[in-house]
Amino acid sequence: MFVGLDSIEVGLGDRSYPILFGENILTTLGEQLINISFPQKIAVVTNKTVEALYWPIVLESLAASGFECTLISVDDGEEYKNLATLELIYDRLIEGRFDRGSGLVALGGGVVGDMAGYAAATFLRGIPFVQVPTTILSQVDSSVGGKTAVNHRLGKNLIGAFYQPRLVLIDIATLKTLNEREIRAGIAEIIKYGIIKDEKFFSWLEENVDNLLNLESGPLLSAVKRSCQIKADIVEIDELEGSVRALLNYGHTFGHAIESLCGYGEWRHGEAVACGMVVASRIAQNMRLSDECASRRILALLKSFKLPVTAPQFPLRQYVSAMLRDKKVRAGNLTMVLNRNIGDAGLYPVDDIEMVLSAALSELEA
Ligand code: NAD
Ligand code: GLY
Repeated sequence: MFVGLDSIEVGLGDRSYPILFGENILTTLGEQLINISFPQKIAVVTNKTVEALYWPIVLESLAASGFECTLISVDDGEEYKNLATLELIYDRLIEGRFDRGSGLVALGGGVVGDMAGYAAATFLRGIPFVQVPTTILSQVDSSVGGKTAVNHRLGKNLIGAFYQPRLVLIDIATLKTLNEREIRAGIAEIIKYGIIKDEKFFSWLEENVDNLLNLESGPLLSAVKRSCQIKADIVEIDELEGSVRALLNYGHTFGHAIESLCGYGEWRHGEAVACGMVVASRIAQNMRLSDECASRRILALLKSFKLPVTAPQFPLRQYVSAMLRDKKVRAGNLTMVLNRNIGDAGLYPVDDIEMVLSAALSELEA
């Protein structure tokens, strides 16, 4: 069906969908939508930055394939991933007389993808949607697996739904316009997959640092594809995060604490996760789940991608209370994703988080 394109299937019964991979395949979006019998009337949700870069290509492709499309372009930034922007999207859909026979395309990074996905999940109780992710983070993580959400002023991603796309189209050529900081931050999530699931992939990443930072096509495509395969395998087992899907949050408990204490936007999500992975690996070592060699390799790989590995200065009790707001807290008890060396991870209750964190942080400073 998708001749000439690399693809992976996310197998979820009648909600299964393909992830298509390639370089310079954005021009084929129209054809790919015809292949999946996508609705003829489409709203493309993007932001001003991505609009300037990729809307002309997308429009040409969709128009050439006979689609009727409307552009909905929102402001760029995590601070706009909220109910107010969502309302603007609904306004445009209602004014444009979109109905259940229409579809939505999310074109952009994770902010656009999460928000457009939630609009698709809720507009008229759900219309079909497609993800066209354009950042590394969104290509290897947020566009796959159906988590959609907007932020509430009291917290990130608090209003959302699980809603799977009909297709994910990944064009690695779009990554060439990303700035270096976004590239490094996205790579943190790729490293995460190696730590939690695939030691061989982690070793391969150790050997491909320059290739990935230089966005060499072959290695980049391999890294994005392997990451998506690992995520798809996990989502197929546990779509709604009742069990193993939580492993994808490796590094996120401390990472989210950094993001919330610094104010969203100061640290990129991937940067905070990088630092969170160093902390998690240290805790795992102290709990004798993992050895010193694993912690050293994790630290070295993150450093070689020039990702931050030291935590910003906040009092310990502030970190602890931010970590206790994690979604994995039940009845005041924190569970953390911890690595068992490299290539394997599990969920572990952490009884005295203050003591455990204090030990990990002081060792990292030493
Ligand atoms: P982002 O969407 O803010 O994109 C980062 C920046 O890059 C933005 O300024 C954007 O306009 C710009 N950009 C996007 N594509 C570009 C391109 N090709 N060239 C140049 N600039 C481009 O950030 P992100 O890191 O992609 O995503 C972060 C969001 O993803 C957060 O809101 C997070 O909560 C969410 N997320 C969701 C999931 C999930 O499973 N749904 C997983 C991880 C993260
Ligand atoms: N990004 C974590 C998940 O999709 O579950």
